[in-house]
Amino acid sequence: MESMKPLIVANWKMNPQTLAEAKQLFNSVKKRLKNIKNVEIVICPPFVYIPTFQHSNPEPEPSVRYGASIPTIKLGAQNCFWENSGPFTGEISPLMLKNFGCQYVILGHSERERCFGETDEMTNKKVKAALSAKLKPILCIGETKKVKKKKEIFKILKKQLRAGLKGIENWKLEIENLIIAYEPVWAVGTGNPCQTKGAKISLFMIRKIISQLFNHPALSKKIKIIYGGSVNSKIARDYIKAGFDGLLIGGASLNPQEFIKIVKEISKAQ
Ligand code: PGA
Repeated sequence: MESMKPLIVANWKMNPQTLAEAKQLFNSVKKRLKNIKNVEIVICPPFVYIPTFQHSNPEPEPSVRYGASIPTIKLGAQNCFWENSGPFTGEISPLMLKNFGCQYVILGHSERERCFGETDEMTNKKVKAALSAKLKPILCIGETKKVKKKKEIFKILKKQLRAGLKGIENWKLEIENLIIAYEPVWAVGTGNPCQTKGAKISLFMIRKIISQLFNHPALSKKIKIIYGGSVNSKIARDYIKAGFDGLLIGGASLNPQEFIKIVKEISKAQ
């Protein structure tokens, strides 16, 4: 079943600088995906490249989808606003993303907090707006180095999840579309990934918190939890073995060879 496949999300961040480079990167990933069927791949390019990729990779007919030898690359965005239209200069709405073929949107990334002062409350509004627009929000949470040192990981994950998911406790249908990305802030973009042992403990904490939040064990099990933070092809498989449902990949997704290596490692682990 499609929903059980590990989810691999490429976060290109603010790269590359030209459309020609973006097309080259997208196409070289696509070309190398032949015969990889058992992973779900999502690319989140900068907004301006989304229309170009919207039609380059249509969904196959349902009848051939599961037998197709080249998986569809799904599209995601790296952010969105919480309103669908209006006087919000510079913003992009969830509906616009949906109308341009996006299925996913990354929300609450630590770089948005660091560079733009985004808060958990703002992220919460975005999560609700994305779910209402039938997008799949990838809610990023994770502790800073300071929190890790103080051994307060559980406390901070609980705070982030409570605030980020506030008000959606009864949105039963939509909750299944939710994805949580555990991204320790100290591991993002540093080349210093979280050891799988530690990541596994956080995964356990997150499962526990969401099952308490939604008070619905079966439903909370359907929420995918993925890992992100300096993933490379040597360690990618370890996170899946540790129980994560997928990966969020930044730096390594800009190198098509390395990205495909990661995808193949995950595919082999199935
Ligand atoms: P990284 O980024 O793989 O470069 O650490 C991950 C992310 O920010 O999503």
